[in-house]
Amino acid sequence: MRAIQMVDLQSQYQRVKPEIDAAIQEVLDSTKFIKGPQVEEFANQLAAYTGAGYVIPCANGTDALQIAMMALKLKPGDEVITATFTYAATAEVIALLGLTPVLVEVDPNTFCIDPSAVEAAITPKTKAIVPVHLFGQCADMERLLEIAKRNNLYVIEDLAQAIGSVYTFSNGSQKQAGTMGHIGTTSFFPSKNLGCYGDGGAMFTNDIELAQDIKMVANHGQRVQYFHDVIGVNSRLDTLQAAILKVKLKHLDEYCSARQNVAAYYDKALAGHPNYKIPTRDPKSTHVFHQYTLQLCGLNREELKKYLAEKSIPSMIYYPLPLHFQKAFGSENYTTGQFPISEGLCKCVLSLPISTEMDEEQLAYIVSHLKEFAEINSNAEQTGN
Ligand SMILES: Cc1ncc(COP(=O)(O)O)c(C=O)c1O
Repeated sequence: MRAIQMVDLQSQYQRVKPEIDAAIQEVLDSTKFIKGPQVEEFANQLAAYTGAGYVIPCANGTDALQIAMMALKLKPGDEVITATFTYAATAEVIALLGLTPVLVEVDPNTFCIDPSAVEAAITPKTKAIVPVHLFGQCADMERLLEIAKRNNLYVIEDLAQAIGSVYTFSNGSQKQAGTMGHIGTTSFFPSKNLGCYGDGGAMFTNDIELAQDIKMVANHGQRVQYFHDVIGVNSRLDTLQAAILKVKLKHLDEYCSARQNVAAYYDKALAGHPNYKIPTRDPKSTHVFHQYTLQLCGLNREELKKYLAEKSIPSMIYYPLPLHFQKAFGSENYTTGQFPISEGLCKCVLSLPISTEMDEEQLAYIVSHLKEFAEINSNAEQTGN
């Protein structure tokens, strides 16, 4: 059996090696390492794939969030609502810009921001909502967009984990993750569903003026070279990464279905298991399974992780601590039990290996060891929910 990894980038690379190597060689030959033609070509191809009006590449997903908030001219003191159960980058850039992160609860089924919690957190200072499409599934965008419209708020979708995911509105219309709010922000970190071989990111928008402002902020605040209209940043996707992403974008549909097949295997093997709660699939959104995340019931998570590791099965905890318990976000201002769903998830989630090249032998091995551990240990000390 091939070694199991959380993300098997080596096997994925081997499958497309000739295409990737040729694309890299082309950039080396051109020596246009910055602003080579591949950057714009990739942006246009990604816009066509997602249906976004404009795609503006940048250096990483964290920059994308920051540039989005700068382009929307959010000001110190403005409140921005996001989920407490997520990766820190989202709240980090809010705080970094002097804005106030307002953390709220997530939905227990999708793990994405709960629209009712958003609504309850709105104050006269609220300017934006940042839903994170966590683990590969869109947040409840229909309700969030309606709340945003009613309260005159911006919506920045963080789709770093959900590129290619499709959301269906109640009138039957469909849109891709990142194309529904004012701006979508994404990351091309190597392990992402569309990942490059270094750092990369992008912003999506359907609004031409916003697209121009985003471009300006990402380019030192200049529309015309050496004329700086606003304080900006330097955030570029380099040509090598764009060339790699052009190749990988052609395979994104395959990558999504490969992940969905892995998830379907896990689902079938573990559905109804008393100790493993499989991820809920929201009928409104396709799930592109950036992560396959179980909730453990009546099992000791650390013991299970250790047991799996002894069998050479990696696993990860996304995320062990909600943002409201992080020192950086003023944990002293929050109380235990304030966001019980997020706090509970942090205690019981476990993400299994998922990647585009996993085979049935690996999956059967993982599942048999999960079941074996549960059989031996389900009466052991209970943690989680
Ligand atoms: C939800 C989310 N937002 C933002 C980011 C930041 O992306 P990057 O690492 O490219 O800065 C990540 C990366 O892990 C993420 O998962």
